[in-house]
Amino acid sequence: MVSLQIARQSNARISSLPRGLVALFVGATSGIGQSTLQNFAQHAPSPRIYSVARPQTVALHESQLAALRRSNPTAKLNLIQADASLVSEIDKVVNEIMQKETKLDLLVVSAGFMAFEGRKDTREGLDPSMSTRYYCRQRAVQLLLPLLKNAASPRILSVLAGGLEAELNEKDLDLKDPRNWSFWNASVHAATMHTLSLERVARENPGLSIIHWLPGPVDTAGLRRAAQFGMRPPNQMTEAEAGERGLFCATSDRYGVRAGLVPAPEGVGPANRSGGGIFLLGPLGESTDNEGVLATMRERGIDKVVWDFTQQVFANIAANGSHDASKDEL
Ligand SMILES: NC(=O)c1ccc[n+]([C@@H]2O[C@H](COP(=O)([O-])OP(=O)(O)OC[C@H]3O[C@@H](n4cnc5c(N)ncnc54)[C@H](OP(=O)(O)O)[C@@H]3O)[C@@H](O)[C@H]2O)c1
Repeated sequence: MVSLQIARQSNARISSLPRGLVALFVGATSGIGQSTLQNFAQHAPSPRIYSVARPQTVALHESQLAALRRSNPTAKLNLIQADASLVSEIDKVVNEIMQKETKLDLLVVSAGFMAFEGRKDTREGLDPSMSTRYYCRQRAVQLLLPLLKNAASPRILSVLAGGLEAELNEKDLDLKDPRNWSFWNASVHAATMHTLSLERVARENPGLSIIHWLPGPVDTAGLRRAAQFGMRPPNQMTEAEAGERGLFCATSDRYGVRAGLVPAPEGVGPANRSGGGIFLLGPLGESTDNEGVLATMRERGIDKVVWDFTQQVFANIAANGSHDASKDEL
């Protein structure tokens, strides 16, 4: 466990890092992502920050970014309009960043929600509660690898449910059959498939630090919406604290596979990586492990099944996209 005071002290040292860190936030229009973005923008020297907002939140997010520009005039903050529930929109975001940047130091992904009202697929045929929390995050990670590999100490922070992985319905990974889908099963699938796929990325990219963080209950708009459906967990962290802790996870060398950002605080030391080679973190930045579930899945090759299934989903979306585009031209 890391105290909030230690996290704050570490965050204050971000101002001594080299100028020009490049970061992308997906899901920072509200909640934990927004608070993490706010803290990063305040502390980082001359950062170049990209943040995604869907059309209905663009105006709000633009005003949030304007406030951050006032708090740190050295920060370049760019809003990219895109819907984080659509794989094809993530492709657009990545293309835009690829045209402007040669490296990416930090990717923070936190878009997502629980589909209490039921499943209503996106035009790409995915459950948006799963695409925001798994497919689109995974797509961003995969496509951004070339830029991440060009950074000195690249980090990925995914805010979701590290350590809460559980058995999958292996015959219906996408939970297409209405008898298999529930808002809870969608959450379990998103988190578990995410960890398994991130582990593979970590194995293939040993210089990349990957953090899958379970923030615990945080008093955000998402959790307040959950309360309307009877989900009111006790001991909720404030959004402000979650942002400070999120930034600590993203920038402390405690969670670095190689040093290069803020040195790990004295007396706290480096965190342990999970059996799969990523940092699975609990709410207070403590390493967790879920090998009871994950090791068996890896032994049975379920990680590969998930990976192959995911690549097929991406390929189908790309194929349908070009089909539609070609129809438009006729
Ligand atoms: N808060 C908690 O207690 C808690 C606990 C454990 C895990 N988590 C997970 O951590 C992540 C961040 O949580 P949070 O409470 O900070 O979230 P939040 O404030 O409710 O929302 C975070 C982001 O998700 C985007 N989003 C929501 N629904 C979307 C949709 N249908 N399509 C596209 N984007 C959508 C929001 O965009 P808009 O602003 O445009 O709506 C926002 O940028 C979520 O994945 C959540 O499931 C949260």
